[in-house]
Amino acid sequence: MSNHIPDASLEPDYNENPVEFDRLISKAISRRSLIKIGSAAGAATFLGGTSSLAMAFSQATTLMSFNNIPANTADTITLPAGYSYDVLMSWGDPVLPGAPNFARNNDADAQAGQFGDNTDGMEMFHLNYADGSVNPDRAILAVNNEYYNDEFIFEHGEAAKTLADVRKGIAAHGVTLVEMERKPNGQWVYLKDAPMNRRLHGYAAFELTGPVAGSEYVKTSTDPSGRRVLGTFNNCGSGRTPWGTYLTCEENFNGYFGAPEGTELSDAQRRYGLSESGFGYNWWPYEERFNLAKEPNEANRFGWVVEIDPYNPDARPKKRTALGRFKHENAAMTINRDGRAVVYSGDDERGEFLYKFVSRDAYRPNDRAHNLTLLEQGTLYVAKFHDGGAGEWIELSYGQNGLNQANGFENEADILVRARDAASFVGATTMDRPEWVACHPSSPMVFCALTNNTRRGTTDQQPVGGPNPRAENQYGQIVRWMPENRDHASRRFGWDLYAVAGNPVVKTGAYAGSENITADNMFNSPDGLVFDRFGRLWIQTDGNYSNEGDFAGQGNNQMLCADPVTGHIRRFLVGPQGCEVTGLTFSDDHRTMLVGIQHPAGQWPNAARDGVPRSSVIAVRRNDGGVIGA
Ligand code: FEO
Ligand code: CA
Ligand code: CA
Repeated sequence: MSNHIPDASLEPDYNENPVEFDRLISKAISRRSLIKIGSAAGAATFLGGTSSLAMAFSQATTLMSFNNIPANTADTITLPAGYSYDVLMSWGDPVLPGAPNFARNNDADAQAGQFGDNTDGMEMFHLNYADGSVNPDRAILAVNNEYYNDEFIFEHGEAAKTLADVRKGIAAHGVTLVEMERKPNGQWVYLKDAPMNRRLHGYAAFELTGPVAGSEYVKTSTDPSGRRVLGTFNNCGSGRTPWGTYLTCEENFNGYFGAPEGTELSDAQRRYGLSESGFGYNWWPYEERFNLAKEPNEANRFGWVVEIDPYNPDARPKKRTALGRFKHENAAMTINRDGRAVVYSGDDERGEFLYKFVSRDAYRPNDRAHNLTLLEQGTLYVAKFHDGGAGEWIELSYGQNGLNQANGFENEADILVRARDAASFVGATTMDRPEWVACHPSSPMVFCALTNNTRRGTTDQQPVGGPNPRAENQYGQIVRWMPENRDHASRRFGWDLYAVAGNPVVKTGAYAGSENITADNMFNSPDGLVFDRFGRLWIQTDGNYSNEGDFAGQGNNQMLCADPVTGHIRRFLVGPQGCEVTGLTFSDDHRTMLVGIQHPAGQWPNAARDGVPRSSVIAVRRNDGGVIGA
């Protein structure tokens, strides 16, 4: 095992057959119109030189050989024929020495040594042999624990009532790192008490880096340096770097803060959803840092992308402020052709924005110490989509685009802490809740799930149009774009809608969805979005699972597999009742896929034994040992 040269095999390689890929895209968009709502002709300028957008839907997909499975409402995991799964780890399973097995009455100390609650984004980092080559059978799993559900975590089933409740709740958040091993029979197991195991929960030590670190906006009574933060919360989606670090994204951090009734909150605080009651967690009466009246700057220390080195248990995780503060869904990183690191990230709230960070310095292969500084400095941009398929990235730097003192922006740190305000000021496009972004492994194409937005078209600030073409959008869509000249640092891009979710059985017109949505593969609320290394696009859903009305026939939340070029989409997995399917990573050989099953609400995986259902990571394998999806 070596701690230093991880995952070189995952570095993007744009020289891998780029001409062929472009030719396919070009052919695809010349075939037929994908979607008749929201025309996107301008994208053709960058995507291939024709005037209509379409998928090469008439050509067969060669990316998938499993058959589409039907939707269902069963309280189990359903997979295609020839696939099976086992549960790798569930909320409350012990990972650190001395931690007890799960019990519903576990206290905060127990929880701090166990897998946190509500599994979400995750990445697998293989360990190496002494010679530096990848050990295919050993890995570290880094996995987010987004939040908890009162009804399951507390025996009283209500919001926190005591300091002990609050402490347990805080310990259930954050990130879990755990070593894994593949047994000779192909099954992966996690290793309790292994040296790389860590729980980076809401009481762990984090460091602020980049332009906001040490600024007046992040200083508190317990941290006058403005650099040392306690904890991370609402860790939603994930990302990874080619130098083998984990990116965890702080999303709905605002919900944990509160204040006595009548507390005056600033416009900036309101813009980030901070309020007297928060989401009702009721932490602030017990932990003063969550009281906005006492510590108004504490909330500025959350809402960041955090970089964690899974190979160094002693390294303090770093909050990368140069990437901006908002409700980060995930962080999709790629290395641009000039070597700079580019990170795309969505702000998941109705009418919020899509962002891009470009590092100041370039990635250097085999210089990990240098690469570990890449996310400290760079430039943040926000997306503006034009009708017709063109788009531009608008720079959010002090002194650019009117972002100056005359317009209420004090300095670079102020802009980054209030990225939403800066993005609104420059006229960015309000989106239908940007969830995960995914970068294609061998082309500069990028995809983003826009999960839904029932407020679209009901307010002047969120007009219908561009990549958000439907009013009161209950189904969601997936937008894709290609940077001009295949250059992620370019100010311009072309875009189209890859898929518009809908229900072709109960709806007609725009709400029936795009042509690649059928009665057999329909879904709502795309959320998780991950490319595997072969270019299969995996789509996870977090939506309405009533199976009634507008959602009749769509069943439980699920995971689908898509061909990004032809537009074919097939359902691969259906989750158990009440769950959201979120988080996805692969073993190096792609013969095991780990999938997150968050907040199941029925008997799965074994509520009868445990007293409550438990969020779990499952390992999916092909019975013949083959590559998943192939
Ligand atoms: Fe944590 Fe937007 O999902
Ligand atoms: Ca999500
Ligand atoms: Ca969601």
